[in-house]
Amino acid sequence: MHHWKPAKSFLSDAVGAIREGRLVGMPTETVYGLAGNALDPSTLASIFEVKGRPVFDPLIVHSHSMEEAFSLARSVPPEARLLASRVWPGPLTLVLPRRPDLPDLLSAGLPTVALRVPAHPVARDLLRQCGLPLAAPSANRFGRISPTRAEHVLEEFKDEREVAGVLDAGPCEVGVESTVVGFPEPGRARVFRCGGLPLEEIREILGVEVEWVDVRDAVDDPELARRGEQSPGMLARHYAPATPLRLLEEHEPAPLVDGPAGWLCYQTAPAGLRGPVEVLSPRGSPAEAATRLFAALRALDGSGVREIIAWRVPNQGLGMAINDRLSRAAWG
Ligand code: TXA
Ligand code: MG
Repeated sequence: MHHWKPAKSFLSDAVGAIREGRLVGMPTETVYGLAGNALDPSTLASIFEVKGRPVFDPLIVHSHSMEEAFSLARSVPPEARLLASRVWPGPLTLVLPRRPDLPDLLSAGLPTVALRVPAHPVARDLLRQCGLPLAAPSANRFGRISPTRAEHVLEEFKDEREVAGVLDAGPCEVGVESTVVGFPEPGRARVFRCGGLPLEEIREILGVEVEWVDVRDAVDDPELARRGEQSPGMLARHYAPATPLRLLEEHEPAPLVDGPAGWLCYQTAPAGLRGPVEVLSPRGSPAEAATRLFAALRALDGSGVREIIAWRVPNQGLGMAINDRLSRAAWG
């Protein structure tokens, strides 16, 4: 695959590849996506195949405008319209009733479709120039850490013929995936995945309680996904480094470890740690920590340690998304 850098100079190559049914690494403000024509079933099949993703886990469709995004839904509840008008383009994905003529693979057979208008200028240019909605899961192999730099996408897929190239626009600003919100019935909003749009902001915009289930309490029941009460992706205990990860409470003291360990700290590292240390945000900003999270996990994972020890971060704002990804990684 090509390393298209700088991204802006290679947009027409990327557009050409997508029109031919191939896949492209697309920078977004959250993480890099593996993008392809959302309306072409064989392209969708190759996304699942290249990622090694189970077909029960549906994809997000990316659009350049709210109008195009909503044209893919059968109906749009007022809460969804309100959220979209305040947040799009941005790190929000809405799960809405799907138009029946969309390819089944997109929705993994569910009656809903996940829609998002990303904010990254390169993603927006690509979407506009393709003139097509693009399906784009995070550009990692299933169960692996999401990519926040073009180099991560190359690491994942460099030998994959179906992936034409990655548009390199540098590191992603948000660093965790979009927040996925569904509306199981009128007046109810449910967060299926914490992400780049904090829960507090959704509450403030909608002025209602927003339901959310901690991944540690999620129940493994596909029927709940079918009824729109949860997302198939909620069950995936993934985002795991290959190295086992142990998750500590926020203020828990560093444990004694036998053998080499890597340490993932929020604001400061306790004195006397032996082995590689990553500090996510010395100034204690959850947003900065989110930006660095996946690159830090990849670095520790690649450092040859036997175990990664991580601390939970304060559970507010983007901290909720960070804790969610760390909880999943600890399942590994
Ligand atoms: O930030 C993001 O959302 C990135 C960038 C590339 O846009 N994309 C991303 O896609 O994270 P992916 O495929 O890695 O995650 C999609 C999530 C999964 O948890 C999936 O289960 C959920 O969205 N999802 C997709 N369609 C759904 C649906 N119809 N109902 C419920 N959940 C759905
Ligand atoms: Mg993903």
